[in-house]
Amino acid sequence: MGRYIIAPSILASDFSCLGAEVEAVLSAGADFIHFDVMDNHYVPNLSIGPMVCEALRKSGVTAPIDVHLMVQPVDEMIRMFADVGATYISFHPEASDHVDRSLQLINELGCKGGLVFNPGSTIEILKWLLDRLDMIVLMSVNPGFSGQKFITQTLKKIHLVRDLIDTGSREILLEVDGGIGVENIAEVASAGADTFVAGSAIFGSQDYASVISQMRAELEEVVSL
Ligand code: DX5
Ligand code: ZN
Repeated sequence: MGRYIIAPSILASDFSCLGAEVEAVLSAGADFIHFDVMDNHYVPNLSIGPMVCEALRKSGVTAPIDVHLMVQPVDEMIRMFADVGATYISFHPEASDHVDRSLQLINELGCKGGLVFNPGSTIEILKWLLDRLDMIVLMSVNPGFSGQKFITQTLKKIHLVRDLIDTGSREILLEVDGGIGVENIAEVASAGADTFVAGSAIFGSQDYASVISQMRAELEEVVSL
């Protein structure tokens, strides 16, 4: 895996042939599968759950599965996703009464833990939790739907979190989720992100490999700056 990670969000894929979509996007060069879990409670939409993750693993998917929980409460879903082969499990701090305990649970179950921050959420809590994190996710749209417009305020927050990660010695991915495409991925990377979720930009295109390679070409430019 290179310095940058591209994580297509299967929320924007064709669910009628999900297995084929996942296979297609992985052979097109994706690094992670971003797996959005919505409960019609924490967010106003309903998506897929642990049984679907299990089915992907059983069908032979070995790539990291990056589970983004948009559910409340979180602990039972953490257990269920750890059981069916999730690699990363991230949740929104507002959705857990005991954030540190939920992160410990993820770690104890052998998964990598992440926290997700909405566009309107502060990140103060992070400095107390860095030791438990393998990923920090900054939402660049309000959670619930694919295909929304990137909120540019997020760029400032990416800078802040990049600085925070760099003050420590732990390897923590900085993922940005929402409204990312070929046209803005370089800007998001320049602000300090290393992991990019893209739903509609990839699955809404006819040629996944071409979009992913255009994204990588944009990222190359950032490296050489
Ligand atoms: C939104 C999800 C995102 C979404 C991204 O709640 O967390 O992962 O699928 O989709 P795009 O890239 O289309 O904004
Ligand atoms: Zn997501």
